[in-house]
Amino acid sequence: MRAVDIIIRKRDKKELTKAEIEFFIQGVTQNTIPDYQASAWAMAVLLNGMTAQETTHLTLAMANSGDILDLSKIAPIVVDKHSSGGVGDKTSLVVAPLVAACGLPVGKMSGRGLGFSGGTLDKMESIPGYRVDLSEDEFMQQLRQIGIVLTGQTGDLAPADGILYALRDVTGTVPSIPLIASSIMSKKIAAGAQAIVLDVKLGYGAFMKDLEHAKQLATLMVEIGNLSGRKVRALLSDMNQPLGKAVGNAIELKEAIETLHDGGPHDFREHCFTVAAHMLVLGEKAANLDAARKLAEETIRDGKAWEKFAQLVKAQKGDLSFIENPDQLPSGSIEDMVMAEQDGYLSMLNAQMIGEAAVILGAGREKKGAAIDLGVGFHLEHKVGEQVAKGDVLIKIFANERDKLSAAKAKLMEGIAIQSEKCAQLPLFYGVI
Ligand code: URA
Repeated sequence: MRAVDIIIRKRDKKELTKAEIEFFIQGVTQNTIPDYQASAWAMAVLLNGMTAQETTHLTLAMANSGDILDLSKIAPIVVDKHSSGGVGDKTSLVVAPLVAACGLPVGKMSGRGLGFSGGTLDKMESIPGYRVDLSEDEFMQQLRQIGIVLTGQTGDLAPADGILYALRDVTGTVPSIPLIASSIMSKKIAAGAQAIVLDVKLGYGAFMKDLEHAKQLATLMVEIGNLSGRKVRALLSDMNQPLGKAVGNAIELKEAIETLHDGGPHDFREHCFTVAAHMLVLGEKAANLDAARKLAEETIRDGKAWEKFAQLVKAQKGDLSFIENPDQLPSGSIEDMVMAEQDGYLSMLNAQMIGEAAVILGAGREKKGAAIDLGVGFHLEHKVGEQVAKGDVLIKIFANERDKLSAAKAKLMEGIAIQSEKCAQLPLFYGVI
């Protein structure tokens, strides 16, 4: 078999066989297929698509390119969640300890922010000392001992995805449904959880801009998960505007802490309770969504979710004094604000532009490995659908450098619209698959 023939077959819109896909992924992993051929192949897939069968073969080939964790030794069901990315999405920080405190182990490997999308690891690293580099043994041991882990990818999971994703990032081949589905699901399958809730975002700040494409991605990921013996459920949720009110790293951690203390913004609380409820049903801790939601609300109210979060931070060597006194967490030294320029109703808070403005301030990175500023970010004082008056503060800005502040402010203003007619609030969810 030759890599070039496989590229040509995909270029000519043919369905690749399992053997061809396995050969290609093995070649990518072992570096016998060079970057230029892997990139050409990714572009052919982006342009011509893949069948569900091809995508499943691709997912399993990528999952099998490295270790596959066996979490069945730890508990009958370990649950995981995955968000397809977004702005202000600090859900894992609340939902992982919440679900674990209900007695369902959560073993979660998260990523860093890239582009305008934030990352769970960066938010957790706002806590001095917090380790995100647990080994596979440490992952297993902690999951067994306290029922929760929130770390970076351990060991050698789906290395083929790591190589391909880095190439896709610089060759314009990220937004392909089969490539995204196989990338996400190969890592989830390798990470070993038996039940997985996928939070597929749609809107300005998501990979999928509309409901139809988000549904296609979600359906494909659920099918792949089921074919590989996992219980998978996908929620379709809004990412036209950021989730909650905080955007940044330490500032999002503070909002998660508030929520774990039974506070937090309404939309973010609702989002967390819904995701947690689906995890609890899938993990067989509750008979139905209503019972699961009651259990989740009670677990926040009685402080057990907070205790589990503190246990997690302690186990991963984070300094507890920072989560006990969140005012000590880093915060930008220069404060500014964006104000409403007219009376009316807030009709757009474009999540992508707000995410890009956060990257300008230094909260995110354009390239993998770049340093970030944990203290900068935004606090949204209003959300889409709310009435505002000229001069009202719409967004508070926390910056550390003046030139970045003015560029970020200009970007924020591009992402805001106010209209004189009443407009509806955005839905939180669009469906479940
Ligand atoms: N997240 C991933 O892990 N992979 C993709 O391709 C897109 C989002």
